[in-house]
Amino acid sequence: MTTGTEAEATIEMRSATVLDIEPIMDLVNELASKGVMLPRSPASIVEKLRDFVVVEVNGAFAGCGALAIIWTDIAEIRSIAVDPKHQGLGLGRKMAEHLIEEARGLGLQKVMAFTYVTGFFEKLGFGVVDHGTLPHKVFNDCLNCPKFHKCDEVAVVKVLRAPTEEPGISSVAMPKPGQPFRI
Ligand SMILES: CC(C)(COP(=O)(O)OP(=O)(O)OC[C@H]1O[C@@H](n2cnc3c(N)ncnc32)[C@H](O)[C@@H]1OP(=O)(O)O)[C@@H](O)C(=O)NCCC(=O)NCCS
Repeated sequence: MTTGTEAEATIEMRSATVLDIEPIMDLVNELASKGVMLPRSPASIVEKLRDFVVVEVNGAFAGCGALAIIWTDIAEIRSIAVDPKHQGLGLGRKMAEHLIEEARGLGLQKVMAFTYVTGFFEKLGFGVVDHGTLPHKVFNDCLNCPKFHKCDEVAVVKVLRAPTEEPGISSVAMPKPGQPFRI
């Protein structure tokens, strides 16, 4: 996908494969055990594997990040994590910028994230928003979150383009609260 060299290290970013499932799970859940991000179940990583990119340093797994499409206008950056021994070297930015460009390429209007590292996302052009401004579907995964009743993550949003009135996009209305819909 992309290759670069920082100092003497070779950095490569690529789509995740099944061989990355265990390293992704180990990294995300190790960081989650320190309270800096939320954990993920093995099933949620397997099912969403195509959402993930992986970054390697000298051919070894060094981090991951995922882009989940939430609705016709919004995607969420999830589970972005860099191995502590490689943090602060620009790998997180590299993955986030790639995921943002992926969202732009898909025609999405904005990208959001729930995070404890607001400063990292602010450096990438995200702004803090109130949870109440986000569409209800963003909170689907919160039903399985151990912090469902006491969410302390900050919501951040980056707008990629102005809203559109194109048929086929605006006509796919977000279900109203209480209205049944298929996931
Ligand atoms: C947050 C994380 C993904 C950032 O990745 P990284 O490779 O360490 O960050 P980068 O080196 O790419 O930093 C990019 C920019 O963000 C800033 N930044 C990084 N982490 C930051 C933080 N915790 N707070 C504020 N700013 C931060 C950097 O200073 C840098 O700014 P610059 O470009 O002006 O120099 C990584 O530190 C990590 O895995 N943290 C633990 C897991 C986590 O919190 N994930 C987020 C879940 S939503």
